[in-house]
Amino acid sequence: MQNFNTIIALQATLNEWRKKGQKIAFVPTMGGLHQGHLSLIDVAKKYADRVVVSIFVNPAQFAEGEDFGTYPRTMEEDLALLEAQGVDCVFTPSAEAIYPDGMTLDVDVGAIGQILCGQTRPHFFNGVVQVVRRLFEIVRPDVAVFGRKDYQQLHIVKHFTSGVEIVSGEIVRETDGLAMSTRNQYLSKGERKIAPQLHKILGQIERRELDVKSAAEQLQRYFKLDYLELLDANTLKKITDNTSKIAILCAVFLGPTRLIDNIIFRRENV
Ligand code: PAF
Repeated sequence: MQNFNTIIALQATLNEWRKKGQKIAFVPTMGGLHQGHLSLIDVAKKYADRVVVSIFVNPAQFAEGEDFGTYPRTMEEDLALLEAQGVDCVFTPSAEAIYPDGMTLDVDVGAIGQILCGQTRPHFFNGVVQVVRRLFEIVRPDVAVFGRKDYQQLHIVKHFTSGVEIVSGEIVRETDGLAMSTRNQYLSKGERKIAPQLHKILGQIERRELDVKSAAEQLQRYFKLDYLELLDANTLKKITDNTSKIAILCAVFLGPTRLIDNIIFRRENV
């Protein structure tokens, strides 16, 4: 596995591959890798001859007071995991390489970035689209893979990038149902035991054992509720007669840690 931290060196290798007619799949990450990320690499392999992974903790998607400074940086372990997963090359750029003119936030995804997670993190999706566009410009992949756990991010990336096929990877869960996330490391032992309640309660909505109001009450027994919404999974708007897939989308705080999760299901089940 090759590891590049300069754009020039990365692009020389990517150009060699392109000359040979090889298709390139890209998995952008912020490191702190877990089984969820590794499953995205497996998806990427199905779509292309070569897999490139980036590790870059993007300052533009963190607001003042968020966890940019403490976000897990586990480069050595990450590189070992990627090598074992059969990744062809890793790109680990500096902030200067990504933002050569400084970090001017010049992307605005508008209203879609202000709902759901955007209510608590209004800056977040602009920062994500900014870095994803920049990474796409550098890597020029044929395909890029994003996890479905960050469902709103996946939706926004699909709508606000072009020229790259966006595919998604399923949510990978711990055996007790908790969706894997780098931020799960922040949970204390006691919080970790409570955390699976999130998925359990969302499952009860899907199976119609709980309506949204009762589910919100249940969630509030364990968490501080950020949002719980049922929306059209294709539009992230209100469910209408044309809705074919429903998204149950939720974010909660457990102590200082914010957890998100979702379930997407076909309308027939309602
Ligand atoms: O999902 C993430 O890890 C990040 O938001 C991404 C897509 C790598 C952009 O920094």
